Amino acid sequence: MKMNNNPINWYPGHMAQAKKIIQEELKNIDIVYELVDARIPFSSKIKDIDNIIKNKTKLLIMTKRDLCDIKETNKWVKYYENKGYNVLLVDLKMGEVQKIITLTHELAKDIQEKRIMKGLNKKEINALVIGIPNVGKSTLINKLSGKMKANVENRPGVTKSITYIKTNSGITILDTPGILWPKLDNREIALNIAATGGIKSEILNIDEVCVHILNILSSYYPNILQDRYGVDSNLDVLEMYEVIGKKIGAYKNNEIIYEKVSLKVYNDITKENIKGVTFDRWK
Ligand code: G4P
Repeated sequence: MKMNNNPINWYPGHMAQAKKIIQEELKNIDIVYELVDARIPFSSKIKDIDNIIKNKTKLLIMTKRDLCDIKETNKWVKYYENKGYNVLLVDLKMGEVQKIITLTHELAKDIQEKRIMKGLNKKEINALVIGIPNVGKSTLINKLSGKMKANVENRPGVTKSITYIKTNSGITILDTPGILWPKLDNREIALNIAATGGIKSEILNIDEVCVHILNILSSYYPNILQDRYGVDSNLDVLEMYEVIGKKIGAYKNNEIIYEKVSLKVYNDITKENIKGVTFDRWK
């Protein structure tokens, strides 16, 4: 099995550009929606976000509630609330945007009052969506704007002209999400992001990511390991590969085809065959 001991080193050059665009547009923004994946509420959070969005009103939206371990993720909700964040845990596939709209109007009350004091009229609330790849930014923009498919380009490095979409809920949304990339210098964080599909397969070591997923499952979710693969959590990782390989027919001449097993486990997470898992632990 191929194992890679180097840190995942990928910090794309477009990051500075994304920051620049956000900083330039920030003056027009009333509220920032920072998205994180509910399975990795810590790992998918951009650590230096406040340097970028300063003291703008912000809402921390944890997406993919339907995929997380609600008990563990709720500990993170509390953790961020204790730090002063407004937090919403949502399932965007179910289209739960009303909660976001309601809270946005509540949070924007101060902004609107200030406008009125200055003799201005209340106006549309301008919102910006930011987050690392795969946390649901374009899904949220689509749902808020009622579009079938947003005009959103997710590929790193691709920029387009900046436009706002008027929604019918009093919110105007920047149709380009701020795609930011976490520094992947912490191995566990990088692996958590990779395991949930946030780092594309061209740059990740699939075996290493699979080992990480199997370790998480055996430590915290032995039932899933047993039910899905017939794997006992007491086995070591190579034994787990053997059991899974045999189960899915990933072997040739009595040799396990490790990469096939890795891909299967990875796909089971990213294709949502495995649900109810939260990778980050709040201790
Ligand atoms: P991004 O712009 O931040 O990169 O994320 P995007 O909206 O493209 O969402 C990434 C994937 O996550 C999409 O799946 C999307 O459907 C899914 N997703 C977003 N929010 C939720 C949620 O709350 N629950 C679940 N279960 N999935 C969510 P995909 O497979 O890439 O595309 P597709 O399913 O839309 O075809």
